[in-house]
Amino acid sequence: MTGAGAGARDDGIVWSEEVARLEQQAAEALAGAKSSAALAEAQTTVLGKRSALTLAHRDLAKLDPPARRAAGKAIHDAQTRLETLAFERAEALAAVERAAMLERDRLDLTEVTRDEVRSTITRGRLHLVNQTRRELEDVFIGMGFTVAEGPEAETDWYNFEALNIPPAHPARSMWDTFYLELGQPETVVLRTHTSPVQIHLMEDEPLPIHAVIPGRCYRRETADARHLPVFHQMEGLVVDRGITFADLAGTIETFTTAYFGPDIHSRLRPGYFPFTEPSAEVEVTCTICRGAGCRTCSWTGWVELAGCGMVDPAVFQAVGVDPEEWTGFAFGFGIDRCAQMRHVIADMRVLTENDVRFSRMF
Ligand code: DAH
Repeated sequence: MTGAGAGARDDGIVWSEEVARLEQQAAEALAGAKSSAALAEAQTTVLGKRSALTLAHRDLAKLDPPARRAAGKAIHDAQTRLETLAFERAEALAAVERAAMLERDRLDLTEVTRDEVRSTITRGRLHLVNQTRRELEDVFIGMGFTVAEGPEAETDWYNFEALNIPPAHPARSMWDTFYLELGQPETVVLRTHTSPVQIHLMEDEPLPIHAVIPGRCYRRETADARHLPVFHQMEGLVVDRGITFADLAGTIETFTTAYFGPDIHSRLRPGYFPFTEPSAEVEVTCTICRGAGCRTCSWTGWVELAGCGMVDPAVFQAVGVDPEEWTGFAFGFGIDRCAQMRHVIADMRVLTENDVRFSRMF
């Protein structure tokens, strides 16, 4: 033990003075540490294996038993107090350091004026497709329709068979289909249109039905200016007593002027869909030339928007609805296409690019 002369080792008083001196030194070292790192270092020096107090234990062997016990206890007590001190110092330093870090990282908003804040914070908004979907829903809700939804993964039966499109029917080529690896091969598909929800509604809901069904659809196609492999449709289904083709034509015309504006009209031309008979293609006034004729509408003044028709009795039969009692019409059109036409968007692919410069325009 340093500082206590060889002759003084038997002297308990000298021992306790020496321990007190070492403790004092150690406490000063701990208190003087200015950072957590410095404290950790000081702790090793004054409390570690090679510290003066620890080494002092070795010298105890030279004392007689009562003095050894007293000195051992003195060292032990000193070390315990120092450990408490170190712990408290560590906490205090950590608090100071945390506060300093918070201060460093603080975002000082008081230095920015309110107008500056307003110009840097922008409000999010719905994607144009979702805005369009909601507007279209509103138009149909105003006409007395309800809004329904259905699953995006369908069995072949819902997407095709129940809609009067049996396996290997040539009409299947109208839809390039994504098949899911589920169950038997080619039995589960990503729906190619919202028409299968017609089947779900007639199965699940009491008649009459007046519903529109918006939703996402999938086709195995390469994206181009007018097509997306993942797109949105809105289906319409009305099943009631005494529904005629005139109800269908009137509904389409009302929707067209309500959504596109009073100068945009609709016309129906004969078409073919397996689930409607008769079927029609809906054309509306070209929104680019407003009917005057331009490149987009091939100088006709009209562009194709939707398919529609009277629900085929074979579809009613598939879901057990009596075609003698009930008649109905259905239609389906692209929501993305509506947005494209109304806002004159040259290339539909911008809808998938998430470019905020585009999103901010709507
Ligand atoms: N499902 C058709 C398609 O995706 C569109 C369609 C045509 C829906 C006629 C209908 C309909 O409900 O009656 O091409």
